[in-house]
Amino acid sequence: MKVLFFGDVVGRLGVAAIEARLPTLIRQYQVDFVIVNGENAAKGRGLFYSDYQRLIQAGVDCVTLGNHYHSKSQIDDYIDDVDRLVRPANLLHYDQGEGYLCFDVGGTELVVTNLLGQSFMTEEVSSPILKMQDILAEYPNAAFFVDYHGEATSEKGLFAHFYDGAIAAVVGTHTHVQTADGRVLPKGTAFISDVGYCGMAESILGFQPESAISTFVYGEGHLKLLEDVDARLNAVVVEIDETTHLSKSIETLNLVVRKEELHGEENL
Ligand SMILES: [Fe+2]
Ligand SMILES: [Fe+2]
Repeated sequence: MKVLFFGDVVGRLGVAAIEARLPTLIRQYQVDFVIVNGENAAKGRGLFYSDYQRLIQAGVDCVTLGNHYHSKSQIDDYIDDVDRLVRPANLLHYDQGEGYLCFDVGGTELVVTNLLGQSFMTEEVSSPILKMQDILAEYPNAAFFVDYHGEATSEKGLFAHFYDGAIAAVVGTHTHVQTADGRVLPKGTAFISDVGYCGMAESILGFQPESAISTFVYGEGHLKLLEDVDARLNAVVVEIDETTHLSKSIETLNLVVRKEELHGEENL
């Protein structure tokens, strides 16, 4: 089975770029299942129901979140009513929605979960390693795909090595910077420290660089998201063996979608 995973989608441009390219990518890589980290879809922070709907309608099978899971409080109104949305599983003070979901992918069980890291993060969470033990015990016959949302590459690597041979894939999110360490670990777990992001092609964390400079250097204005610009899509394609539930390969994608391809799209 091939799983296509997109890093943090930032704003409507990121959503539009996925809408524009997803059908082609599914055909090109013979993808069976698509996951998107949607924690920044709503104007850079959080996820509106309309963003979730657009991603699902575009062909996405599962949307994961991160530390911005509640940046748009509207999520309280819909998180219990949707069936393809995974919030961080190890939150201590939020129990709406699901922290992991099991999908049937061509007869193979695929459990997708989202874990928040503990280094340089402010959310109150339980240990990702202990939480994962509970999830693994609940599904004895599944393949596991983990979106590990954290700041520290070392923490993500430690988790992946700890579970090497038990989890099909551990992919990092949150830094919005794609790392060059994608590989299959010795016992068969596919790993990358960070998949990257989907949004403005030239950006800082997905936001316009000039607006970041004026905000952080001069204390003026606010972070901006532009829509009439080229977009970047950062993703990985992971091939999982249906028998061993471990991975054969992980391929990194870093694509630029020209604004001409997006401009005039009814959704932009
Ligand atoms: Fe993010
Ligand atoms: Fe994040």
